[in-house]
Amino acid sequence: MNELTVHLDDRSYGIVFTTSFTPLAEQLQPFVAGRRSVIVSNPTVFPLYGEQVSAAVSAAGGTPLTVLMPDGEAYKNLGELEKILDQFAAHSLTRKSVVIALGGGVIGDVAGFAASAYMRGVPFIQVPTTLLAQVDSSVGGKTGVNLTAGKNLVGAFYQPQLVFVNGNTLLTLDTRECRAGYAEVIKYGMIADTVLFTQLEECTTGLFDELSASPALIPDVLADIIKRCCEIKADVVAQDERESGLRAILNYGHTFGHAVENLTGYTRFVHGEAVAIGMHAAAVFAGKLGMCDESLVARQKALLQAAGLPVQFPALDTDAVIASFYRDKKSSSGSLRFVLPTSIGTVEIVDDPNLELLKKTLDECQKPSDA
Ligand SMILES: NC(=O)c1ccc[n+]([C@@H]2O[C@H](COP(=O)([O-])OP(=O)(O)OC[C@H]3O[C@@H](n4cnc5c(N)ncnc54)[C@H](O)[C@@H]3O)[C@@H](O)[C@H]2O)c1
Ligand SMILES: [Zn+2]
Repeated sequence: MNELTVHLDDRSYGIVFTTSFTPLAEQLQPFVAGRRSVIVSNPTVFPLYGEQVSAAVSAAGGTPLTVLMPDGEAYKNLGELEKILDQFAAHSLTRKSVVIALGGGVIGDVAGFAASAYMRGVPFIQVPTTLLAQVDSSVGGKTGVNLTAGKNLVGAFYQPQLVFVNGNTLLTLDTRECRAGYAEVIKYGMIADTVLFTQLEECTTGLFDELSASPALIPDVLADIIKRCCEIKADVVAQDERESGLRAILNYGHTFGHAVENLTGYTRFVHGEAVAIGMHAAAVFAGKLGMCDESLVARQKALLQAAGLPVQFPALDTDAVIASFYRDKKSSSGSLRFVLPTSIGTVEIVDDPNLELLKKTLDECQKPSDA
């Protein structure tokens, strides 16, 4: 077992890295003993791991309860949030009760937001079960739901009290979701860690074929990568918890990516795939703005493609895409904001970049020849 602390004064918490649920009871004990503890999950994940997590809650002296929401990004909305809160009330949760998110980023975001809002805040624990949630969404305290107008437009900064990463849960994750989580891994290399990026360049070609053939290798192969990503995220969040500056670098690829997700109805691409498309567009844009050289664009594209991730922007109306950028909450006070790479491992925040070059970028990224 490995551990890491997210340093946030009185809101500091640990991230525990393991390959089984055996240590979960001991980890939960300080938080759930004597408390009603509701496991928020979905009908895909709960049958796989719900029993083990419920048993750990009981062994830790808590009373396990369950609330399930339907599976999928399309349900990350206010309607489902209300249903979850109603079920919290039906389970007679009090301010001393605990919410445990068991699932991917969708469950973590919705359950975390529900925990932040129920009775003005009840303790919250993350048990992430996708690669994306283990390297990114379970750490840092961003919670929320989507509106029709855009992704994550309603939410709260609400830190968990513990993040329990069991790498073995990735054994049941399908390859597409694993590749999608890997997009966020590549993001960390691009924004903060040249060494990580180079390591990924060395190991990614053929990796997912190998892991598909021998899934048992997944936890071992990904363990160091997951921990490194969490270290980077913990470090960024510790410096800028509420995104007044530095934390925005974590949004690299996301302004383009959120537009792709939103305008394709959250069904065609999963989040990580949209982020891959968004990172490629961001790099092409940075190239056009003279911020980086062509080799950066090519290296990132090669790595994304080696991971089997899409890079080609879907055919969408350019004006609709740009309107969607303005709605993205990462844009501040009516202006456009992008996180763009200058070299591998370094990005910059750019406000109100050249619109003509932005349109050219979208045009170029939509061409099949560029895929
Ligand atoms: N809060 C943040 O900081 C942050 C950061 C990045 C992404 N996000 C959000 O995270 C969401 C994406 O998360 P995601 O990629 O984990 O998607 P997801 O939660 O939809 O999970 C992907 C799929 O895998 C299934 N699944 C989960 N764990 C499994 C397992 N171990 N075995 C088998 N199936 C499993 C899920 O039921 C789902 O069908 C988006 O809504 C995105 O906005 C949030
Ligand atoms: Zn993301």
